Amino acid sequence: MFLETDLERTFLAIKPDGVQRGLVGEIIRRFETKGFTLVGLKFMKVSKELAEKHYDVHRERPFFPGLVEFIISSPVVAMVWEGEGVVAAARKIIGATNPLTAEPGTIRGDFGVNVGRNLIHGSDAQETAQTEIALWFKEEELVAWQPHSAPWLS
Ligand code: TYD
Repeated sequence: MFLETDLERTFLAIKPDGVQRGLVGEIIRRFETKGFTLVGLKFMKVSKELAEKHYDVHRERPFFPGLVEFIISSPVVAMVWEGEGVVAAARKIIGATNPLTAEPGTIRGDFGVNVGRNLIHGSDAQETAQTEIALWFKEEELVAWQPHSAPWLS
């Protein structure tokens, strides 16, 4: 049986375009039906400070100011998901950064039209996931639990 602490976690955020287009349920459904476990969820407006910290690695890129303005323009859904291999698996479910080249069947491939409006963020590595979870969530906002509906994971 997996101990709660053995399980990998990732940070996902449905960006303003995903919320505005009414895709919150559709996006969450894909991770839920895959079998990952939701351990943190909040609907929030993002401060400029948080947006800039989150995308700090891109600070010198030409798209950075527009990216930050977009992220703070309208609410997002911030989430933490848990499960074996969830960081890499979530990136696959999300699809390539540019929705025009993302595979059909991925979230970006199915619904996205533009690299600047690609619906969802997902941590790109386990280390990044830990940093991003700590940036977006307080420890007490994360709920450790085991779904009774998934005995095959035990
Ligand atoms: P990146 O970390 O490269 O992609 P991903 O979200 O797939 O991990 O880039 C972060 C975000 O920056 C990306 O989701 C959309 C935006 N972006 C642009 O607007 N233009 C660009 O040319 C790139 C590379 C990213």
